Amino acid sequence: MGIIRKATMSDIPEVQAIIETFAKRGEMLPRPLMELYENLRDYFVYEENSKGILGVCALHFAWEDLAEIRSLAVKDSYQGMGIGSKLVRVCISEARAFGIRRVFSLTYKPEYFMRFGFVPIEKELLPQKIWSDCMRCPEFPKCNEVAVALDLQKPTEGTTEQLSLIKNRKGLEQT
Ligand SMILES: CC(C)(COP(=O)(O)OP(=O)(O)OC[C@H]1O[C@@H](n2cnc3c(N)ncnc32)[C@H](O)[C@@H]1OP(=O)(O)O)[C@@H](O)C(=O)NCCC(=O)NCCS
Repeated sequence: MGIIRKATMSDIPEVQAIIETFAKRGEMLPRPLMELYENLRDYFVYEENSKGILGVCALHFAWEDLAEIRSLAVKDSYQGMGIGSKLVRVCISEARAFGIRRVFSLTYKPEYFMRFGFVPIEKELLPQKIWSDCMRCPEFPKCNEVAVALDLQKPTEGTTEQLSLIKNRKGLEQT
């Protein structure tokens, strides 16, 4: 049985190790420790008692009505078990809880996000602020990431329950 919960400071080494595994393969961007510490509150982890942290994902506020889902990764041996989906969904729920109207992701795996209703968009449609972040990226300007976005203006079933869990900031999801 696993839970999704907010990351804590002591999780950061495990979180960074998971991200690094995929960053080294060029599947996602690396996240330096300083960035992880500064943005700790963005991060959710999926944890199983006996196995530790198996997956990670972050929701980063970008603009007044816009947030980014970033650093989605599930350890190789645990992929295909629904962990990535739970992490994406909890980020979407948190975005709703904060009144965000649209979430986006810059990803090498746009098809995965399209499973949740995201649609590809032109990167240029994102606010200029996103581009200033891009300029700090080691891949800039030759970036092959695709921008995908999900409109959150339509409420969905189950939202209220998940929001109250998020407000508790404890066990967010039992499996
Ligand atoms: C992408 C990733 C997060 C998915 O996590 P996961 O826990 O395996 O995902 P889930 O178990 O929730 O979903 C698995 C389903 O997604 C599908 N899927 C996985 N990767 C996919 C992709 N790149 N494109 C489309 N579908 C994909 C699987 O075929 C499976 O489909 P099924 O349910 O119909 O059998 C995981 O593969 C991963 O960590 N990859 C490396 C890091 C990465 O690429 N992150 C993406 C952000 S840049």
